Parts: sequence; structure tokens; C-alpha cells
Amino acid sequence: MDWGMKNRMSRIFKSDGKTVMLAVDHGYFLGAVSRMEEPRKVIEPLIPYADSLMITRGILRNCVEATHNIPVVLRVSSGNSILGKDLSCEDIAVSVKDALRLNVAAVALSVYVGAEYEHQTLMALSRLINEANDYGIPVLAVTAVGKELEKRDARYLTLSSRIAAELGAQIVKTYFCEDFQDVVKACPVPVVIAGGPKMKDELDVLRIAYEAIRCGARGVDMGRNIWQSRWPVAVISAIRSIVHEDASLEKASALFEELKQAR
Ligand code: 5RP
Repeated sequence: MDWGMKNRMSRIFKSDGKTVMLAVDHGYFLGAVSRMEEPRKVIEPLIPYADSLMITRGILRNCVEATHNIPVVLRVSSGNSILGKDLSCEDIAVSVKDALRLNVAAVALSVYVGAEYEHQTLMALSRLINEANDYGIPVLAVTAVGKELEKRDARYLTLSSRIAAELGAQIVKTYFCEDFQDVVKACPVPVVIAGGPKMKDELDVLRIAYEAIRCGARGVDMGRNIWQSRWPVAVISAIRSIVHEDASLEKASALFEELKQAR
């Protein structure tokens, strides 16, 4: 890895090699999703607890102060919406030049393996990697499933994560699943997990974070299960304890309960 690439990766992955990324990029296809109607109010209090922000350029420019020294993982794929026919119909929508102007630590794009627009998204990933490599910018590939949440099993996620890494992605964001260690084992680059749609119980969120780390994930890149919670700071703090302090599930759950009461 060249110095610039290494330096950017080290801004995202802390000295223990792990990371807590906060995903707030959902609006690119979901619009003003529930509890993210006013991004500034939601994002600002969580910044001190996040190692990086996964975000779109519109929300970054309009809702995050440029004085924050938080690494930015810029969502650069889009072109779809929740109302469209097929969520897999995405392409690169933001230039690497604009990403550089925003001083990003990485750029992010979704691939939809096995979906209608699989080829288009895989070629978009390849083009993005070719261009971002020229400037030492890491690419995070999201193994997206669109509305087909049932796809989230080890066989599918191993396939899509491995394809993303084979094409040259430096980081893969995927979902936690049973036998998650198989997904990590077959993916030669750092794997972080998404949270997926909001779960009923915050303790289930902590459980998947804990299990994912135990299986070799290098961190989380979670959104809805943090900021759609009534206790977002308590959730992200407990996740941090799992990722960065090797906290047991019991210890992290106790921390969550304690911070929840203190709110
Ligand atoms: C969809 C995405 C989302 O934009 C988001 O980053 C996912 O985060 P979470 O599932 O934790 O809300 O990547 O594929």
C-alpha cells in the first residue's frame, strides 16, 4: 500500500486495527428516513463516539461542521430510490475529484451480486477502484441486498464479499449472519458489519456486534440500529466497548443499561 492509502486506512481503523463507523448515508435512497429527518441534530451528538462517518456529500456539506476532525467515508453510489423498480440499479454518482475536495478517508459504493443490475454495480466498483487507487483513496464495498433481506446468509455473503475483495475493494461492509466466520475467512480485506433494519431490542444489536468481532470482523458500520434507538449514545458507547475494549456481551449490556438510565 502506498503511504496515502495506508494513512487513510489508519484514520478509519484505529491503533487496535478496529473501527466503529457511524452510517448516516441512508437518505440517498430512503430520503428523510424515520429519526433522520433532521440529520444535524442526530449526527452532531454522536460524532464524539464514532471513528468515522459514512455519509453522502449533501448531508456532509449541509449538516456537518467542517471543523470536525472525523474521517469521512463518502457514499458515492446512487441513482435508485425506495420507490423505484429495482434497488440494484445504482451507479457512481460522485466524482473522485469531489471526494478529494471533501478530504475523504474513503469512498463507498454498493454492489448487488445476483441482482438484476449485478454487472453494472460490479463494473462501477471496478471503475471506482481504478480511479480512487490513483489518489490513494480506499474503497469500501457494501454487499447490498436491497429489499431481499433473506439473502443474508453465509453462502451469499461469502460470495459477494469475496467478489468485492477480488475486484480490489480495500474494505468490505456486509451483514452479520450465522457462520459469519466463514465470510471473514474467505475475505482477505477488513470486514465491517452493517446493522440492517432496526431490531426491537438493543441487546440484540450488541449481540451481533459481539459475535461479529468474535468471528474476526474488524468493526461495525452501523446506522439505523444506533440512531433509530431511543438511546443512541448508550448503544454506540456499548458497541465501542465491544469493538475497542474487548468487553464481554454481559459487560457491554450492563454499560448500555447504565447509560440508558443516566439519559
Ligand atoms: C444499504 C446501506 C445503508 O446505506 C447503510 O449504510 C446501512 O447501515 P445500517 O444497515 O446499519 O442501517 O449500506 O445497503
